[in-house]
Amino acid sequence: VIIEGVCTTRNSDGSINIAPMGPLVDEALTSFVFRPFQTSTTFANLKARRCGVFHVTDDVELIARAAVGRLTQLPEMIPATRVDGMVIAGACRWYEFEVASINEASERSEISTRLVHTGHLREFFGLNRAKHAVLEAAILATRLHLISSSDVQRQLEPLAQMVEKTGGVQERSAFEFLRSHISKNSSAP
Ligand SMILES: Cc1cc2nc3c(=O)[nH]c(=O)nc-3n(C[C@H](O)[C@H](O)[C@H](O)COP(=O)(O)O)c2cc1C
Repeated sequence: VIIEGVCTTRNSDGSINIAPMGPLVDEALTSFVFRPFQTSTTFANLKARRCGVFHVTDDVELIARAAVGRLTQLPEMIPATRVDGMVIAGACRWYEFEVASINEASERSEISTRLVHTGHLREFFGLNRAKHAVLEAAILATRLHLISSSDVQRQLEPLAQMVEKTGGVQERSAFEFLRSHISKNSSAP
């Protein structure tokens, strides 16, 4: 099964990179296999530093902005316990891991990890269609180079309806941000 969340890793200059990632996990959440594209900063940092922190969060605004590299303000973070990394203070849970092995055979790498520490900060909000719609829109926003703009618009429409029907302020704001990013960055036609 895949779980969607946010991965923090340390950049070469010491700052922290924040990116949504969907690792393969077991149901007990004791094994994480990350699959970052070799072009991503997350891949470069995991290869160089051999550790990171994965977060489960319901903050879809953070996910939306981090997905397209537009975090104007970094979220509050606290130092991780067992790895050289940072924990997003507003997340629900976190998982500190070390890299065990990296498979670079394909453009989308496979990085097996060892879990070294986990922590709980607050309860997960719960299932919500608008949050899931924002998640889908965020994924769409990272694939604009692969999908025609008419296809993107067609896929956005039902997502917009879910946000309209079931979302709150955070979901609406995140969706509007993504919609605007997509219309500025879509490839024709
Ligand atoms: C929910 C979600 C899951 C994602 N999962 C992955 C993933 O598993 N691997 C990947 O390379 N990109 C994934 N992405 C896209 C990256 O987040 C996106 O390309 C980002 O810009 C990479 O950031 P980085 O270059 O700072 O690592 C995902 C995006 C979202 C919204």
